[in-house]
Amino acid sequence: MIDKATVKRIIDVADIVEVVGDYVHLVKRGSNYMGLCPFHNEKTPSFSVNRQRNICKCFSCGKGGSPVNFIMEKEGVNYHDALLHLAKKYGIKVEERELTDQEREQQSERESMLVVNEWAMRQMESNLTESEEGKTIGLQYLYQRGITNEAIAKFHLGYAIDKGQDLYDKAIKSGYDVKHLKSVGLCGESQQGRYYDRFRGRVIFPVHNPAGKVIAFGGRGIKGEPAKYINSPESQIYVKSNELYGIYQAKTSIIRQNKCYLVEGYMDVIGMWQSGMENVVASSGTSLTDGQIALIHRFTENVTLIYDGDAAGIKASIRGIDLLLSHNLNVKVLLLPDGEDPDSFSRNHTPEEFREYIENNETDFIRFKTQTLLEGCGNDPIKRAEAIRSIVKSLSSISDMIKRSMYIQDCSRLLNVSENILILEVKKARGEVVEEQRKKIERSSASTDSAEASIYESMASKKAATDKEDTTFCSILRPLEKNVITYCVRYGMSDYAATDADGEIVYLKVFQVIADEMSLDNLTFTTPVYERIFQRINDMYSEYSAQRGEFRQELDAEVQKRYRAGLDKIASEQLSVEDIAHKEDLLKRELDVFCSSRESEFDKLYVSKILSSDPDDELRNEVLNLITEKYNLSKYHFKTTRIEVESDKLSELIPRVIDEWKDGVLHVKIEQARAELKRITAENTGEDIVPIMAQIQRLAQARQQFAKQIGERIIVPKK
Ligand code: CTP
Ligand code: MN
Repeated sequence: MIDKATVKRIIDVADIVEVVGDYVHLVKRGSNYMGLCPFHNEKTPSFSVNRQRNICKCFSCGKGGSPVNFIMEKEGVNYHDALLHLAKKYGIKVEERELTDQEREQQSERESMLVVNEWAMRQMESNLTESEEGKTIGLQYLYQRGITNEAIAKFHLGYAIDKGQDLYDKAIKSGYDVKHLKSVGLCGESQQGRYYDRFRGRVIFPVHNPAGKVIAFGGRGIKGEPAKYINSPESQIYVKSNELYGIYQAKTSIIRQNKCYLVEGYMDVIGMWQSGMENVVASSGTSLTDGQIALIHRFTENVTLIYDGDAAGIKASIRGIDLLLSHNLNVKVLLLPDGEDPDSFSRNHTPEEFREYIENNETDFIRFKTQTLLEGCGNDPIKRAEAIRSIVKSLSSISDMIKRSMYIQDCSRLLNVSENILILEVKKARGEVVEEQRKKIERSSASTDSAEASIYESMASKKAATDKEDTTFCSILRPLEKNVITYCVRYGMSDYAATDADGEIVYLKVFQVIADEMSLDNLTFTTPVYERIFQRINDMYSEYSAQRGEFRQELDAEVQKRYRAGLDKIASEQLSVEDIAHKEDLLKRELDVFCSSRESEFDKLYVSKILSSDPDDELRNEVLNLITEKYNLSKYHFKTTRIEVESDKLSELIPRVIDEWKDGVLHVKIEQARAELKRITAENTGEDIVPIMAQIQRLAQARQQFAKQIGERIIVPKK
């Protein structure tokens, strides 16, 4: 693990212009640098690099971010490795954090396990190609299945000798600890305390993690054993659901092709590789998991599922689809002719034929799902309705609004169902998704007992009337919350002049003002990622203070230096006493301005610089959007004729966005209460409606009151 201080140093020193400059020819244009986007093909530059914010972004494909982000995308590595990459570039010695005893033990345990696996892989490779048994049994089998020497070398295929303790004996002789042989699952221990090899007489497929470490083995039986495959057990180094077979060999190609083929098994990966498709990984026979999808997503957004054309294959691919969609991946499906898998198909066709087949048969997921589901229900209206519901569920997992509405259009045509009905149904289904998110927040903020303290109460603690309304509420609140969080990200540590109870001006940080306002009315962000961002900003304050102190000291030293140099220069100019006094005055003022502008720049950039290199992917990307998006001007902004710099007007803009948010919360509360009232009346349960009507009235009054307040703030003369 890299210690925190080093992470900070790397992030501080990595200059976006230099980092991007290693990959892209940049030309200065205005205050930015422009170049051709390295993430997609283009002829006119739309990749912009901003040195001050230390971020880059493609205005065409949207990719970019901090230096760490850029390296992650470009090199296809994880957060940790991107930091190492930058550390190397800048010659920063990476100090691994002092580990606790327990961590140290675990780490050395992990390392020993990886070492023994690496050794075993080599051993079994040489068994396959050098031992008599390996050559006559293992290699023959692989040849018979059409696997080439090239593929054998590429995937490090091996053979386990069919004896009780072949590997065990060799390992012990080479000095490996039996403890590790057991923990990686290469050896087992019998009841009599004898050790034995778990893989015997099998062809071996080593499983690598993306960094190329051997974390597990799959052993295929070749004598028609009942257990076709034996796999390494899960261990400290192998959590099956987070790994994909072939990812190490495929990752460069996945990045280059910007596409990943997903197949079922070891043989399929190898078969496709032999047909010239290197960007292929396997989920190893299980259904996809979040961890595996996240792994793919590190390298590309485009996934094509390739499955057998039989019923099981179809079912499996349908199951994988919603999960992929919810991760915002673009999903296509390719069904092979009945009874064929990628392995057999690659053997029975030339690479050209295979590629052509893919081109002609790759189907967009929605078309695929619709077709296969509808085929299965014939004229049965109940089955048809069920199929439609299932498609609606897929549609509702797409979190990108634009993509979703495009698919809805498509589907309405395919299903012959009116678009409006689909929109309505998807909205309903999405409500459930949103509801789940809301529940999560509810759980995390269940600590508000001062419910009576404020009319707003915690938004989350109130149960929503129906799903449909809940979606509407979210769509009301989200943009309002976004305005507020935007200021936190852009100016969180900037000074904000507020007036205290005695009318004195006090300087607070922007995020503190916002936090105060929120706690006053018990507000929380209902959008989870915003809440996380806000939490991070709160958490970074103490570190900010410390660094700000250091920065101030350095700055003071710099100012002193400039002051002395200035004085020297004035003295050398042989001026009159009066002129000297005047010049000295000027110099002081100049340095004051210099000092405060440097300080406010430090404050302004602090939050966004840190968050745009945060390890949380969703958070980091959201932050990037918040920084780079042109600020959405609210109606008030249009009233001012002069275009002003946002940061000059914080003390006006921030209260406004908070007020708008609070107003939105009240609005939602009223709507919720109305819906509740409607429900009570409709169900005619005899429940007393007076309290709820009173509440609606109370809320409506509060909102009116509030509107006046906002109105007053708006007409207050500016400055
Ligand atoms: N698998 C497994 N354990 C099993 C069966 C299957 O781990 N007992 C995983 C393997 O990763 C396998 C994949 O599921 O590659 C797909 O299974 P299957 O299609 O049965 O195996 P193939 O690799 O296609 O093997 P073959 O073509 O040799 O029958
Ligand atoms: Mn197969």
